[in-house]
Amino acid sequence: MKTYNIASIPGDGTGPEVVREAIKVLNAAASKFKFKLDFHEFDFGGERYLRTGEVLPKNATEELKKFDSILLGAIGHPDVKPGILEKGILLKLRFDLDQYINLRPIKLYPGVETPLKDKGPEHIDYVVVRENSGDVYTGVGGATQIGTPNEVAVQNMIYTRFQIDRCLRYAFEYARKRNKKKTLALCGKTNVLTYVFDLWERAFHEMGDAEYPDIKREYYHVDATCMWMVKNPEWFDVIVTTNMFGDIITDLGAITQGGMGIAAGGNINPEGVSMFEPIGGSAPKYTGMNVINPLAAVSSGAMMLDTLGETAASKAIEEAVMHVTAKKLKGMGAGKMGYSTTEVGDLVAGLL
Ligand code: IPM
Ligand code: MN
Repeated sequence: MKTYNIASIPGDGTGPEVVREAIKVLNAAASKFKFKLDFHEFDFGGERYLRTGEVLPKNATEELKKFDSILLGAIGHPDVKPGILEKGILLKLRFDLDQYINLRPIKLYPGVETPLKDKGPEHIDYVVVRENSGDVYTGVGGATQIGTPNEVAVQNMIYTRFQIDRCLRYAFEYARKRNKKKTLALCGKTNVLTYVFDLWERAFHEMGDAEYPDIKREYYHVDATCMWMVKNPEWFDVIVTTNMFGDIITDLGAITQGGMGIAAGGNINPEGVSMFEPIGGSAPKYTGMNVINPLAAVSSGAMMLDTLGETAASKAIEEAVMHVTAKKLKGMGAGKMGYSTTEVGDLVAGLL
C-alpha cells in the first residue's frame, strides 16, 4: 500500500486540537481510498521555546525535508513577544523549505454565513496565489539611533525576476488546471510601487503572451482588489499577488468565506516539501476547550492530499466538509458550531 510520511506540527494554542481532528479525517480518507499516512509529531512552538529557550532546533529543516508533507496547526503564544515564534518557526520553515507559493482558496461553502450582502456560494469561489518567499518578508532592513528623535527604520520590499517568474508560472498553470473562468488577475500597486510592480507587470504579460494565450489576464491595484472582493467577488478566478498584499487580502477573503474557522491554506514548494496550515492563529482564549472549529485544518489536510496526488480523497474530504457545513453546523465560530471540535471531526470522518 502506498504510504506517505507526514510531519505534524500541532504548535500552540488550539493548534493541537485542530490538527488532531485533521489527522482523524485524513486517516478516514486514507483507509477509504487505500493508502496509508504515517504521522510523526514535532513539538515546535511556544511551549517548547519557553521550556528550552530554543525556537527551532538546528536540524529541523533537514529533518522535515525527509517527509512527504507537513501539517501545521498554529504558531503564536501569548507569553512570547510577537515576532519571535512567527519569524523563528513559521516564516523560517517557509523560507528554508523554499515554499514559494502560499495557496489560499476563498470559497464559500453551502450553509456558511458570509458578511457580504446578497452573496452566496455561487459568488465566492476563487483562489489567491500569494508569493511566499520575497517582499518585505525577506527584504533587508534595520534601524539606527533607536529611541532617539533621529531614529531611522528601514524594511525593504525586494523582488527578483526569478521569484516573480516562478510564482507567475504556478499561478498561470493553476488557472489552466482549475479550468473555470481561466482568468488570472495580478494584484499590485503599479501607481506607487513603480519599480517592483513594473517588473511584476512586465513578467506577467511576457509570460502570458508567450505561454498562456488561453488564460485571460487582468490587473487590479491592491486597494481596489479589496473593494471588489467585497462588492463583486464573483469576478475573480485566480488572483496572483505579492507576499505582503497576499497576507492582507487573504484575511479579507477568509472573513468573506465564513472566517478563520474555515479558511485553509498551503505553503507550497512544487518541487519539494510543502506545509499545510489553517490561516487562523492559535486562538489562546479557546485553548483546550474543545470548541474551536477544526474545518480549516481539515480542509488544509485535503489540500495536502491533493498536492500529494490523492485527488479523489481530497475531493471526498471537501464534499464531506461541505455536507457538514450545509446540514449540521449552526455557525463557524468557536463555540458557535452546535458541536464540539471533536464532534465536528467525527461528523466529517463519519461521512467518509
Ligand atoms: C499568515 C500569517 C503570517 C504571515 C504571520 C503569522 C507571520 O499572518 O500566515 O498569513 O504574515 O504570513
Ligand atoms: Mn496573515
